[in-house]
Formats: sequence, C-alpha cells, structure tokens
Amino acid sequence: MSGEARWSAVDRYVDETFAIEDEALRAAIDAGKAAGLPEIQVSPAGGRFLHVLALAVGARRILEIGTLFGYSGIHLARALTADGKLVTLELDPRHADVARRSFAHAGVADRVELRVGPASESLAALAGEGAAPFDMVFIDADKPGYPDYLTGSLRLARKGTLIVADNVVRGGAVADAASADENVRGVRRFNAMLAAEPRLRAGVLQTVGVKGYDGFALAVVVR
Ligand code: SAH
Ligand code: DHB
Ligand code: MG
Repeated sequence: MSGEARWSAVDRYVDETFAIEDEALRAAIDAGKAAGLPEIQVSPAGGRFLHVLALAVGARRILEIGTLFGYSGIHLARALTADGKLVTLELDPRHADVARRSFAHAGVADRVELRVGPASESLAALAGEGAAPFDMVFIDADKPGYPDYLTGSLRLARKGTLIVADNVVRGGAVADAASADENVRGVRRFNAMLAAEPRLRAGVLQTVGVKGYDGFALAVVVR
C-alpha cells in the first residue's frame, strides 16, 4: 500500500472508530457536491480535532474564517453550549447559501452567525462593532490573506484565545523559502508573523490523511 493509500485507510479507520461523520455532516458534503462547490473541507479527523480543541478551551465564542459549505463549522458549533456562538466568514454567497442550509439541517443554525463578504472587511466590521473577544479562531480561507486574518483575529482576541490555521504545510512546500506560489508565500508570511508576535506562543503540527500531506498552525495568545 502506498503512503497516500495508507494515510487514507487510517483516516477512514479513525472516522469509523470514533463515529465522526454522521448524517448531518454527510448531508453537508452532499449539498456542497450538488452545488458544485470544491471538496476542500477538513477531513473527518481534522473536524474532530477542531471539535476537541474547542471543547478543551471551553469555547463559548468561536470565529471561523472560510465557511465553504459549513463542514468544519458544524464540528465547531457542536462544541458550543446553546448560548455559545460561531461567527463564520465567507466571501462567496453561493457557498454561504449552502452552508446556511447545512447549519439548519445540523440543528446549529441558532448558534451560527454567517457573514458574507471579504473576510478582511468582516473582521474590520466586527472590531468596529466592539464584538466581544473570541475564545478560539479557525483560519481557513484564501492563503494569501492569512497574514491579514491573523492581524484581524488578534484584534478580536484576549489572553488565552486559541488560534488554529489550516493548510500551513502544503505538501511540504512551506519549507521552500524561494517558492513563487502565492499560497506558499502567504502561509510562510503567516508562520513568520506567528513566530515574531510577542503576544503569541505558536507552532506547526504536520498531518497526513485523505487530503494528503499538510498541517495545522496552533497559537495561544499569552498576553
Ligand atoms: N473551513 C471549511 C473550508 C474552507 S475552504 C471547512 O473545512 O469545511 C475556503 C473558503 O474560503 C471558501 O469557501 C472560499 O470561498 C472562502 N474564501 C476565499 N477567499 C475569501 C475571502 N477573501 N474572505 C472570506 N472567505 C474567503
Ligand atoms: C485546499 C484545501 C484546503 O483545506 C483549503 O482550505 C483550501 C484549498 C486544496 O486542497 O486546494
Ligand atoms: Mg483548509
């Protein structure tokens, strides 16, 4: 069995063993497919990872940047108590429409606020409204935007806020300082900001699975 086939087999094993993907999550994927949306959601194991992190920090307010059809959002929203809130930001109104239906079908629509538009504008609007700080942030939109999203997220954070970012390894390309790929350059700038920001203690965890070889950045606001 090749590396990729084995990684996928283990992801399927984890999904089955921990009964991660239920009817509502599968329906969200089906709705995304039916609408022709890209299938770039986190894996079942990745979704469970986010869910467990949200529970571990006792998150009552979660900010997600990059909704797609709501798959990671359902995992995150399910970690909230009924009075909790997931604010999720999505550029594409077609994606947002599918996500809204998926949140309703999963029974979490009451805890989800979906804001449509460029995430940089939504982040600025949230700061302008004096939004209460978030306990956890998940960054997963366009990769060149990650540095801006980190700046915007820090404005909406407090000491103790957990910041997680998807796709910061990109098949190992992140280690190439000379890369011309704007996605690689975006995540390299983002990682450098995480490392240099005195308010943060951060690192990167590599992952393999059904989506190949990638990784999550994890950061905590320490002051
Ligand atoms: N978090 C999702 C996957 C997100 S895919 C999951 O795991 O289920 C990335 C999403 O970011 C796409 O839906 C894309 O439309 C959105 N996006 C891209 N550029 C954006 C921007 N400037 N502002 C907000 N969302 C953006
Ligand atoms: C891709 C994967 C992601 O997780 C993402 O957020 C964006 C793009 C991809 O595989 O292209
Ligand atoms: Mg992603």
